[in-house]
Amino acid sequence: MDYYKDKTVLITGASSGIGENFAHTLNKMGAKLILTARSKDKLEKMVQSMNNAVSIPGDLSKKEFPEELYSKINDMKIKVDIVINNAGFGYSGKFLNNSMENYNEMINLNICSLTHLTHLFLKDMVENKSGGIINISSLASFQPIPYFSIYAATKAFVTSFTLSLYEEYREKNINILGVCPGYTKTNFNKRAQMDSVPVAGYLMSSQEVVDQSLRAYKKGKFIIINGKINRFAKFFTSLIPKKWSLKMASSIIKKGMSNKQW
Ligand SMILES: NC(=O)c1ccc[n+]([C@@H]2O[C@H](COP(=O)([O-])OP(=O)(O)OC[C@H]3O[C@@H](n4cnc5c(N)ncnc54)[C@H](OP(=O)(O)O)[C@@H]3O)[C@@H](O)[C@H]2O)c1
Repeated sequence: MDYYKDKTVLITGASSGIGENFAHTLNKMGAKLILTARSKDKLEKMVQSMNNAVSIPGDLSKKEFPEELYSKINDMKIKVDIVINNAGFGYSGKFLNNSMENYNEMINLNICSLTHLTHLFLKDMVENKSGGIINISSLASFQPIPYFSIYAATKAFVTSFTLSLYEEYREKNINILGVCPGYTKTNFNKRAQMDSVPVAGYLMSSQEVVDQSLRAYKKGKFIIINGKINRFAKFFTSLIPKKWSLKMASSIIKKGMSNKQW
């Protein structure tokens, strides 16, 4: 896709899974990349294997890092065309069985850093009348999920925020896309303490998610739910009474939890 050639793309959570795949795919398309995540050595290895990439490692759950990342990019006199807010994690279990420290980290990463980076970079994009943001949300954003309550709530924020931004900025030549993958084969399940077997029998590859998302962004779409089965799942749960969909979501997630604590 020539569309991405020479575009400068900032990818958060670039060291693994969907983010890593965005990086390799965009590298092949001739994009210039800025990679960030906590795993400094992994990012450095990736940079060395790429045509035009730099890494700025750091922890996005720390309040000060988005600003630090933005300043470092400005110091290098780089103009960012696309921000892919991808870094995120989930954690399964009954609400009171996990610590507030864990939830704060999740909220800071999944919500606060994504909002902060969008605020910083979108301002420049609007001034330049070009650019865009891809926010990686989740199928979980459409349905409250018992035993995955905080994660689903953080993603509900991401989808809602992204759709509103799309409408606010679409006339300014800014593309804003929300990406909603379902269960995808990455390292996500390990940190979430979920089994690697797909909970609802359907698993996508991160390459499929990335290819579909890059096509959707190029077309100026505002939201993509990756995969037909996931689109059907979203449609189906919107039709049935909330009590039923909560029961269904609860039993699916319980089946997939590797630390059965309830
Ligand atoms: N896999 C799925 O089934 C699925 C489904 C729907 C949505 N998603 C979403 O897709 C996105 C990518 O997840 P993934 O599936 O690719 O999982 P993954 O393989 O675990 O990758 C997560 C990435 O986020 C980075 N990250 C984690 N904590 C961080 C922090 N505090 N600061 C900076 N970076 C951090 C990780 O890098 P470091 O550890 O090096 O920091 C890693 O690069 C997430 O937003 C996730 O919610 C995933």
